Amino acid sequence: MGFPLRLMNTVFSVEDLRAVVADWRRAGETIAFVPTMGNLHEGHISLLRRACELATRTVVSIFVNPIQFGRGEDYARYPSTLEDDKQKLQAAGLDLLFVPNLDQLYPGGMEEDTRVTVPVLSTILCGQFRPGHFSGVATVVSKLLLNVQPDVALFGEKDYQQVLVIKQMAHDLLMPVKILGQPIVRDPDGLAMSSRNAYLNAQERSCAPLIFQSLTRAAEKLQQRSASLIAIETAGMAELAAAGFRPEYFSVRRVHDLSPPQAGDSSLQILVAAWLGPARLIDNLRVDLQVPLATA
Ligand code: PAJ
Repeated sequence: MGFPLRLMNTVFSVEDLRAVVADWRRAGETIAFVPTMGNLHEGHISLLRRACELATRTVVSIFVNPIQFGRGEDYARYPSTLEDDKQKLQAAGLDLLFVPNLDQLYPGGMEEDTRVTVPVLSTILCGQFRPGHFSGVATVVSKLLLNVQPDVALFGEKDYQQVLVIKQMAHDLLMPVKILGQPIVRDPDGLAMSSRNAYLNAQERSCAPLIFQSLTRAAEKLQQRSASLIAIETAGMAELAAAGFRPEYFSVRRVHDLSPPQAGDSSLQILVAAWLGPARLIDNLRVDLQVPLATA
């Protein structure tokens, strides 16, 4: 095992974060940033590896953001594994870890806090089932981007809708940062890696790859035009329900804005959210049609 070239620094306050970033800026460094909620797995680390290729300095934040969780969701039991996370980040070559507490990011409390809301995109798919979720994400990511001041920020396409929300936010607010989506990292059986997979018992875990299998089957049907869009979506929902999932949506959408497909489209994204026992799982798959849709 080789020794890391430089030691990772950890800061807990916005003030200390700004001081490090200011030094780097004076020295002409470029900065790539990966925001996370911790409990890191290979999906997160893949973002950091790409970040290391894109800039001379890398920053990761770990903050479980209360305002993006709904009432009754898993905020209180979200897994925290800071020491373990630090080792993984150091091994992957991170420069700066930012671990703010609630007071640092919400100095005036959360109730009356300013919110950033991206319209339309935030209200569909996951937004329909988790009202306020994307506003919570956009708000905290704004605070982080304003203070880390990265040249580039990386997000995983496992949360495909989140990437689009952040891209639109950065575009609309004229933020001088490039937002990059990165490919989904999966377990060998196809299950998208997620901190929430830890909520599954052994029986549920063995069932969970069906989500990716159902996406793959839907993609084949789309490519072959062996069923209508509606029939493909209905079959996906039914397949998951029959296996004991509680699916929220199984939906074929346009890649760039997640609106319903139109005639002539060929770049589509199939997205799914489904509960399995105590875990809400999401996944998605891109399909580039060889022959564009004749009708939606
Ligand atoms: P979290 O769920 O910790 O994820 C942090 C980043 O890792 C996100 O960009 C997410 O899409 C990415 N990620 C998670 N699992 C992945 C996988 N299997 N493959 C590739 N990337 C993956 O997403 C959040 O935190 C929060 O909403 C946050 C953006 C930090 C705002 O609070």
